[in-house]
Amino acid sequence: MQPNPTDERILILDFGGQYTRLIARRIRECRVYCEIVPPDVRAATIAGDGSVRGIVLSGGPNSAYEPGALDVDPAVFDIGVPVLGICYGHQLIAKRFGGLVRPAASREYGRAELVVTGADPLLDGLGSRLQCWMSHGDSVVQAPEGFVVSATTVSTPVAAMVDVSRRVHGVQFHPEVAHTPFGTELLRRFVIEVCGCHGLWTSQSYITEAVEAIRERVGRAGVVCGVSGGVDSCTVAALVHKAISDQLTCIFVDHGLLRSGEAEQVRRDFADALGLRLVCVDAADRFIDALAGVTDPEQKRRIIGEQFVRVFEETAENLHGVEYLAQGTLYPDVIESGTGAAAKIKTHHNVGGLPDRMRLKVIEPIRYLFKDEVRAVAAELGLPESIVWRHPFPGPGLAVRVMGEVTRERLAALRAADAIFIEELRRAGLYREIWQAFAALLAGVRSVGVMGDGRTYSHPVVLRAVTSDDAMTAHWSHIPYDVLERVSNRIVNEVPGVNRVVYDISTKPPATIEWE
Ligand code: XMP
Repeated sequence: MQPNPTDERILILDFGGQYTRLIARRIRECRVYCEIVPPDVRAATIAGDGSVRGIVLSGGPNSAYEPGALDVDPAVFDIGVPVLGICYGHQLIAKRFGGLVRPAASREYGRAELVVTGADPLLDGLGSRLQCWMSHGDSVVQAPEGFVVSATTVSTPVAAMVDVSRRVHGVQFHPEVAHTPFGTELLRRFVIEVCGCHGLWTSQSYITEAVEAIRERVGRAGVVCGVSGGVDSCTVAALVHKAISDQLTCIFVDHGLLRSGEAEQVRRDFADALGLRLVCVDAADRFIDALAGVTDPEQKRRIIGEQFVRVFEETAENLHGVEYLAQGTLYPDVIESGTGAAAKIKTHHNVGGLPDRMRLKVIEPIRYLFKDEVRAVAAELGLPESIVWRHPFPGPGLAVRVMGEVTRERLAALRAADAIFIEELRRAGLYREIWQAFAALLAGVRSVGVMGDGRTYSHPVVLRAVTSDDAMTAHWSHIPYDVLERVSNRIVNEVPGVNRVVYDISTKPPATIEWE
């Protein structure tokens, strides 16, 4: 009998490396389920139910030989599952088994040529010289006894090592980044061939397991789910609906800060198409009135957050037998809330404040997925393309895209400009490759223009389009000039009160994706 896909897990112990998430993504691309866990997790916890088939020790900023450096529970090597150390993890393995780690004579950063020097199941047959990517200040200068040095570079004497009998592997380079072209193959060999995973973890298997888990947890109780029209909340609703059909009620709060046609899209393309029970609440006046006179972005978020909670509560109170709230928490949120050290840049309003006050138990069926995995699950569930590929949209909506006080007129102008931008991106076939694109209205700024024979003195619109993996960092999209030109002409001609269009060419950091 085949094992369940999540009966086979790889754990990544996170020593604070920049690319830990990438390791997880690459392993999941091999259809093997993996989780990122804190570095000090005990061996007994890992051994737990026997589902962990392999362990990866990630990179990290520490120096392995310094006092107080993060270390791995030595008993991890006695569990009997294979271990792969990457960068800092590689150095920890060397230290644990009696090798030598020293500051490198020169920091090695960027592309490097790997020379294969010995037999290694992770490298055999890939070539004798391979391109890889390095980023380290310390090096393993002497491999521990029993280990074969399987690769070197000009500046790194032990770039890869292996003890086949103990099934312990170390690589100084980063197999998870695209600049190591054979990296995914190396990780595949580790998880499939060395660890013996079957590679069964797919969108379909995720759905089957999630649906069973929801049924088991919820029983006959009612579930409520807030949907925004975004892919996350719609996927959660569709999963829960697949599990318990009519026990689910979705609530869609139209706060009047939505983009053109959005409310209709949620109703028609999503709820009607999938046969979900949807309660739509038109609360636009309430939100816009509450925002009167407010210009500070954080205050806007607070007001919208509070209003949202109230409207949601009032609506949910009228439903009977509801015990659970389904939320669209994603894996990056889970990982991030684990560290907790980051400075607060913006309050990202979501429905996180609801359960305490409403005494609802929370279910989070996509909490182990990255965004692109959610999209794959959404497509598998039959959600319409318009939702599967919809760009992320902030909870406070257009309120944080009107720079200055939010009024109905400004929202209307912004909505029209945004719709033109998105329409032209779709027409040019660029929409999918862009992470997020939108227009913002600089309501506090006026500039002089000339239209026909007359002078204008009105507001500029900013266009923002970025590429990103997870919104933590972002690059502005290199949209062709002719597309920008069409968008600009159309906005100035078709949107009253706008006489100038600018394109935002800032990366994140130091800018953020939204303007507020
Ligand atoms: P920033 O602007 O911080 O945005 O670079 C990162 C991602 O988060 C979205 N965003 C929000 N989402 N509530 C949300 O639900 C918010 O208040 C909020 N502010 C920003 C933003 O659109 C981008 O995808």
